[in-house]
Amino acid sequence: MVNWKRSSVLIRRTVGYSTVAALVCTGVSLLFLVVVGSKDDESSRARVTGAWDRVVPLIREGFLPPVLPAGKDMAIQVLNTRNEVVAATPQLAHKPPMATFRAASASVHAERVLCPPAGLKGCMTVFSYKVYQPDGPWLLYVSAPTIPWYGNTAALSFAIGMSLLMTAMTAAGTFHVAKRDMTAVDAIRTELAEITATHLHRRVPVAHNNQEEIKLLAGTVNDTLDRLEGAYKQLRQFTSDASHDLRSPLTAMRTQLEEALMHPDDTHWPTMTAAVLSGVDRLQAIVTDLLTLARLDARAPLDLSPTDLGRLLGGELDRRTYRMKIVKDLRQNVFVDCDRLRITRLLVNLLDNAERHATSQITVSVRADGPTATLEVLDDGAGVAPEHREIVFDRFTRLDASRDRDSGGTGLGLAIAREIAEAHRGTLTIQDSERGARFVLRLPIREAPHTAGRSEHRAGHTGLFSMPVPR
Ligand SMILES: Nc1ncnc2c1ncn2[C@@H]1O[C@H](COP(=O)(O)OP(=O)(O)O)[C@@H](O)[C@H]1O
Ligand SMILES: [Mg+2]
Repeated sequence: MVNWKRSSVLIRRTVGYSTVAALVCTGVSLLFLVVVGSKDDESSRARVTGAWDRVVPLIREGFLPPVLPAGKDMAIQVLNTRNEVVAATPQLAHKPPMATFRAASASVHAERVLCPPAGLKGCMTVFSYKVYQPDGPWLLYVSAPTIPWYGNTAALSFAIGMSLLMTAMTAAGTFHVAKRDMTAVDAIRTELAEITATHLHRRVPVAHNNQEEIKLLAGTVNDTLDRLEGAYKQLRQFTSDASHDLRSPLTAMRTQLEEALMHPDDTHWPTMTAAVLSGVDRLQAIVTDLLTLARLDARAPLDLSPTDLGRLLGGELDRRTYRMKIVKDLRQNVFVDCDRLRITRLLVNLLDNAERHATSQITVSVRADGPTATLEVLDDGAGVAPEHREIVFDRFTRLDASRDRDSGGTGLGLAIAREIAEAHRGTLTIQDSERGARFVLRLPIREAPHTAGRSEHRAGHTGLFSMPVPR
């Protein structure tokens, strides 16, 4: 099927290009032949005029020999007033007049194509001239081969030959190029068909003798495969991490329950239930975070509204109680377009971490930096080493130190926070600081809306700030 289709594409392309070439060649050849034809016709007429020039003075002066010098392919006859042939070129000597027509009484010259003129062979154009003599008008007949529209056969053969040659060369060239390109495309297709999830490391061939477009295609396909492979590896890692993180609390809960069932009398049931419940909490936290990530991955639309970032975060900070001292430096009138619920979630994730790692104090600041609104969450803990400042944003990444400090985290908090920042066309990074971790969120700033006061007010009334943040 594929082979048949391939041949049909090859044939169609070759025939198509050859037809165009043939049409162009035919057009050019016609033009060429018309030009040659008119040139030949002109030169034939010039020769006839030359014969007239030579013979007429002889008639006028009375020195006309009965046999005129032979022309190459021209025949001449001179007739007196009684229509008797008085002079002729050798092929018509002693023969009757080659034609009988003459110019109408007013004019001197007439011409006709005769096939053949009397005494000659083939089609000839016969020119008849009146030569006025004292005894009346004499007639001079000059016959010359009729010139076809294409001039001569040599020109015709040349035009046909060149046209055939050009068409054949175009056909061969098109076939060759099309076949080479199709072979390259076939190689890409075959390789792609064989690449499955298990062979994602394979790449399609990039042949250097191919057309630029095919090289570009192969390059793009390989880039796409690179990205696919990366995404697939990430997904595999994510699945394995997620399973592992879900299995650990499950296994712990199962062991606790089995233990309790085996020794029901020795079990302190309230303690056991509390332990199992904490496992359930952990599972719930992981599943909730996974769901949030899935929604962010699916690019669920944001509920954007113009928001004074300082006021939003100030409200959130006032609403919660913290184990640490919170220092606030929140500039007002720094407006961004944001989904308030999600930005609050981002802040909560950063504050949760800061609280877990800070020694005594957390500083939260909001300010405008030119076209960006900057939110910083700075703690006075151990900070994040420069080499870990990117990987902590990966899903399920938890540095060893924090595993010891607190087993409650899911390792998804920062991944969620960064997804939220990117969904808002912003960035979330860890920057250098004198002490502790400095998380910096940058969002595009917007002009203060005219209804800013009202919209904040409305948000407060709808209870937006007081809605529970899923964790
Ligand atoms: N303020 C911070 N100070 C030091 N390390 C941090 C801080 N915030 C995050 N980290 C590191 O980044 C890791 C990932 O954080 P996160 O994604 O929120 O997961 P989790 O908080 O569940 O551990 C943490 O485990 C911790 O090692
Ligand atoms: Mg966290």
